[in-house]
Amino acid sequence: MSETLSEPAALTADAEALLSDELIAFLGCRTPDTWVAWALENPELLLIDHAQCEKKAASTAMNLLYRYVNQPLLLTKMSQLAREELLHFEQVVKLMESRGIVYRHLSASRYAEGLRRHVRANDPERLTDILIIGALIEARSCERFARLIPHLDAELAKFYRTLVKSEGRHYEDYLMLARHLSDAPIESRIAFFTDREAELIQEPDTAFRFHSGVPA
Ligand SMILES: [Fe+2]
Ligand SMILES: [Fe+2]
Repeated sequence: MSETLSEPAALTADAEALLSDELIAFLGCRTPDTWVAWALENPELLLIDHAQCEKKAASTAMNLLYRYVNQPLLLTKMSQLAREELLHFEQVVKLMESRGIVYRHLSASRYAEGLRRHVRANDPERLTDILIIGALIEARSCERFARLIPHLDAELAKFYRTLVKSEGRHYEDYLMLARHLSDAPIESRIAFFTDREAELIQEPDTAFRFHSGVPA
């Protein structure tokens, strides 16, 4: 599988080193090897669903811009984030086009909904939960890009290296905002969502998606 693809060593060798210790510690588990193998068996789905994820990430940030207009730091960070995610979206779509991959609608994996169903109904708890989930999704995306890089062709590996850096920053921004905008300690809430996220990542899924669990 991976070993048959050519790969400039400089692009791929130190992909893991791009992940901060803090980010790895924040996640409740590493992506299972079986998911990595599943992704490599589904290169088209990987890119199509990746495009979906970038678009959804921009949309999540935009929703926060509409709802929390009285939070200047959140407005600045989420505006930057939405722009970056849309740029990533454009980049994935362009890559798909150059590879002859037709963009089509895909059903969502249970991942995001599996996290959002636990969001508390009222603010400020609601915002805290949404920001923690944002940090988890960004951290997981970052970790998955790094896991994939050693197995990808040079063009995709190079692109994913740039994404490891920006999604890593997005994770930091979401976590910073969660801490900054909450009056109460949020550690127990982080622990709760970290556990749920790790469950979703390790449970079996029937369809491959960027945030799916392991093959059923
Ligand atoms: Fe992104
Ligand atoms: Fe992101």
